[in-house]
Amino acid sequence: MNPNFIRISLLLLTTDLCFGNIIDVRVYGTHGKNATFTTTIKPTSDPFFSVAWAVNGSFIITSTISNTIVEPKYADRTTLFRETGSMELRNLTNEDSGEYTVHIIPASGHLISGAAVLEVQHE
Ligand SMILES: *[C@@H]1O[C@H](CO)[C@@H](O)[C@H](O)[C@H]1NC(C)=O
Ligand SMILES: *[C@@H]1O[C@H](CO)[C@@H](O)[C@H](O)[C@H]1NC(C)=O
Ligand SMILES: *[C@@H]1O[C@H](CO)[C@@H](O)[C@H](O)[C@H]1NC(C)=O
Repeated sequence: MNPNFIRISLLLLTTDLCFGNIIDVRVYGTHGKNATFTTTIKPTSDPFFSVAWAVNGSFIITSTISNTIVEPKYADRTTLFRETGSMELRNLTNEDSGEYTVHIIPASGHLISGAAVLEVQHE
């Protein structure tokens, strides 16, 4: 594998069989660029009750139907796609390396959780 690339593996474990059991996603990018943590949840017209992303256990963004809260240091460089729970992170630095987790409560109420390890490397 090209060491100039960021490696992200997103493993979603879900108890909701509609979404399948395990989803594995890989995304590639480089330092200073963007990465998208992509879930393979099908876009839904029934809005998720909540979506929350964290890194190393510290919260990044939490979105409920009525409101979205973003940790200030991520305010300018993150976008949450509420239809799928995917998240884009822009302008990556080495400090963004870490263990990312997502917790989604869909309209059905069955919690979906995922984890991804992001490794940011210089170009
Ligand atoms: C990162 O995303 C922003 C906003 O979508 C875009 O303007 C910028 O060109 C992207 N940068 C790279 C390196 O892809
Ligand atoms: C990206 O981050 C660097 C420092 O980490 C900063 O100087 C630069 O302005 C940022 N670029 C954007 C588009 O936010
Ligand atoms: C997460 O933890 C790792 C290992 O301690 C550290 O290198 C990394 O910078 C942390 N990332 C964030 C975003 O806090």
